[in-house]
Amino acid sequence: MKRKHSLLLVPLLGAAMALTACGDDSSDSDSGSDSSGSSGGEATGKIGVILPDTESSVRWESADRPALEAAFDEAGVEYDIQNAEGDAERMTQIADTMIGNGVTVLAIVNLDSESGAAIQEKAASQGVATIDYDRLTLGGSAEYYVSFDNTVVGELQGQGLADCLGDKKANIVYLNGSPTDNNATLFAEGAHSVLDEIDNYTVVGEQAVPDWDNEEAATIFQQLYTAADGKVDGVLAANDGLGGAAISILEGAGQAGKVPVTGQDATVEGLQNVLAGTQCMTVYKSATKEAGALADAAIALVNGDEAETTGTTEDSEGGREVPSILLEPQAITKDNVGDVIDDGGQKAEDVCTGKFADLCAEAGIS
Ligand code: BGC
Repeated sequence: MKRKHSLLLVPLLGAAMALTACGDDSSDSDSGSDSSGSSGGEATGKIGVILPDTESSVRWESADRPALEAAFDEAGVEYDIQNAEGDAERMTQIADTMIGNGVTVLAIVNLDSESGAAIQEKAASQGVATIDYDRLTLGGSAEYYVSFDNTVVGELQGQGLADCLGDKKANIVYLNGSPTDNNATLFAEGAHSVLDEIDNYTVVGEQAVPDWDNEEAATIFQQLYTAADGKVDGVLAANDGLGGAAISILEGAGQAGKVPVTGQDATVEGLQNVLAGTQCMTVYKSATKEAGALADAAIALVNGDEAETTGTTEDSEGGREVPSILLEPQAITKDNVGDVIDDGGQKAEDVCTGKFADLCAEAGIS
């Protein structure tokens, strides 16, 4: 059964007005990292997307932005994608401007649940529907949540580390993601659910990295490593950036490649580390699939239709079940780095540069 979203009746008028002004919608931005587009045709609304930053992971600009542009272009819908550069106030301002410019649907990757919920509340009061992209806004009001199954991401990381360590006695350090990111909580929970079951493993350090800041991650890991007297056998790092930070410290200690480190995002650097053996695994989450799912949900909202969901996700803070589209992540080890390339997640020419050319050849990647 299809349900019409009555709150969309108001913005459709705004969207119609925005369409007449089509083509000049990037004039409100002073940053070079915005983009907008329209292929005319079927467009009946305008979709705004606000990405979180450029520092916590390269994924947002290198994978998500182009995948979102491709998905919206293919759907023939007008869009405006901007990046809040790690600043919640800036995200709020961008949202205000987008709402003022007549977006019909606003998708955000929140920087923290509080600012995200405020943005969504304001959007709703202006008749603009919202979607949580990748990160759930606790206490928010998004119509949909589009992401991967983030608990499974953590389970894959935990299992990946266990596979690399085997069943020997091992001291483990956790380098978790930002405490303001609900995903980081889910990643850690998923990893613990696997590793805590293995009696031979002992957690000798665990800390969350504020804002997923890679430099701070190196400092934090150094401290945990020193506190553990260097007796660290495995590192559960929540993404490739944090993993890279841990690897840099392990390199200094002559331990890189001997101590398995996990990651996430299948970034160029992460895949290179996996090929080189300094990183045990990463998790691939296809940006094409996630952006495609966002485009589908947004277009359903624009048309006043219901999007196809895979289930609901509990927002414990808001006490509601959020209709969700959750995709399946994939574990990547040395054996299947080629899968990411074959799927278009990265280009062989970017991964197989310099000293990695031989490793790529060995792994059958060309
Ligand atoms: C995303 C990860 C990303 C991290 C840092 C998380 O919410 O799911 O893919 O690495 O944020 O940006």
